[in-house]
Amino acid sequence: MSNISSDWLNQLPKIELHLHIEGSLEPELLFALAQRNQIKLPYANVEELRQAYQFSKLQDFLDIYYQGADVLQQEQDFYDLTWAYLTKCKQQNVVHVEPFFDPQTHTDRGIDFATVINGISRALVDGEQKLGISSKLIMCFLRHLSEAAAFETLEQALPHLGQIVAIGLDSSEQGNPPEKFSRVFAKARELGLLAVAHAGEEGPPEYIWTAINDLQVSRIDHGVRAMDDQQLMAQLVTSRMPLTVCPLSNTKLCVFPDMAEHNILQMLDLGVCVTVNSDDPAYFGGYMTENFVALAESLQLSKDQAKRLVENSIEASFAEDARKQELMALCSEFSQTHI
Ligand code: HPA
Ligand code: ZN
Repeated sequence: MSNISSDWLNQLPKIELHLHIEGSLEPELLFALAQRNQIKLPYANVEELRQAYQFSKLQDFLDIYYQGADVLQQEQDFYDLTWAYLTKCKQQNVVHVEPFFDPQTHTDRGIDFATVINGISRALVDGEQKLGISSKLIMCFLRHLSEAAAFETLEQALPHLGQIVAIGLDSSEQGNPPEKFSRVFAKARELGLLAVAHAGEEGPPEYIWTAINDLQVSRIDHGVRAMDDQQLMAQLVTSRMPLTVCPLSNTKLCVFPDMAEHNILQMLDLGVCVTVNSDDPAYFGGYMTENFVALAESLQLSKDQAKRLVENSIEASFAEDARKQELMALCSEFSQTHI
């Protein structure tokens, strides 16, 4: 452990920019919702389910993650899921969040788009009012599905554009390059939505280039494979293109064999706008604080680096300028009072 305590890291005001709301479904809530909706699970109990959370690559995880989402059926289920995540954020001093949701995971099971987004949005509004956590919601397209299916999802989102700030792209990366979705991203941008995309998690640096050039994203989700391409690294530094990095996710899915080999702090010190995030905390062993603690334990994270990581998240966020200024003020007040 570096000279930072877990308590200091927990108290540090934090911002989360890469979080799949379906990936915050804890086994306890999963079982409770299965019971509420009378769904039979292939696991006897919470412990048995947790035992299944052992992955050697992204697809191993995705198979279990999509199966888990089957218990989400009513608007109240989506509310409860989101509220549980926000409660955790409150405990960890996460003060602004930009969750992803995967509508196709639900609409393909016959759940209405409105059921999903209204449940999530209502919890986010309550989170702002009751917990002081500001938020922006991002709708992801599943990249293993077709371009036509993504267009259909965008169509379903039209009555809800006021509830969404951006579109994203997730699911199985290899073999599904960003450019498969160039036209649907162009359409979404015409509608006034911002764009982000998962790229360079398992896929090659070329996917980061096409996410930037073809999809015109404002941020890259993951992007850790950028270090394989020096020209790309130079571009990321000069453009300040943010990367939403997820340390515990990367070790759980064997993107890095060990946290000690993670490149996030090297990239930070090279001037890349890297940020820390939890991705799918119920599956990967931790929320925001645990991700920072992992960096302190394995990479000698310093207080100055931790603070710069949070400042990068504020810079990269889709919050309004006034809120960004408040967040910056919170952060500098913390560092002055918690030396
Ligand atoms: N990568 C791709 N798709 C995902 C992930 C991820 O880390 N989490 C949830 N869907
Ligand atoms: Zn992700």
